[in-house]
Amino acid sequence: MHTDVKEILFTSEQIKGRIQELGRQINADYRGKMLVLVGILNGVKPFLNDLLSTLNLPVSHDLIELSSYGQSTVSSGTVHVLKDVALDISGKDVLLVEDIVDTGLTLHTAIEHLRSRKTGSLKTCALLNKQTRRSVAITPDYYGFTIPDLFVVGYGLDYAENYRELPYIGVLKINK
Ligand code: PRP
Repeated sequence: MHTDVKEILFTSEQIKGRIQELGRQINADYRGKMLVLVGILNGVKPFLNDLLSTLNLPVSHDLIELSSYGQSTVSSGTVHVLKDVALDISGKDVLLVEDIVDTGLTLHTAIEHLRSRKTGSLKTCALLNKQTRRSVAITPDYYGFTIPDLFVVGYGLDYAENYRELPYIGVLKINK
């Protein structure tokens, strides 16, 4: 375990196992359809890749970047669109993929942004759901785990761009 990590919340095996379950659910729900996954950079990359590998549907994927946290552990409350989708998603079945939903501002902004592109259906999938910190009433349609109000790192999640490479999800030792 990394020396800055106090506790492992989810091991790599637990994460992969839960993603297999999510993939089974998504495969069943979208059977016979084509799906576009849109991931929210940057933290989503490991989750998006692992989720893609569980799908047996015709699927394409794209990425958007909406950043708010910068170098802090507390959300700034402002979400900016830094990178837009390149695919034409109008009329498509879109699944928005996020690593963690905390205040919900990022997911809310992403939904509004993609809706303006006149998608067909639009659902959301997050690996982690920190339900207690919502400032926008939103619950992902699919999520891997509900977690308490802890600052977590690993499996794509960072603190000041560090710890994204950890294969597990853990709690930072010091509340920085
Ligand atoms: C983090 C995380 C989510 C968002 C969730 O992104 O990856 O996208 O915050 O927080 P919210 O629900 O309070 O909006 P961040 O802006 O830190 O960018 P990153 O993915 O590049 O780490």
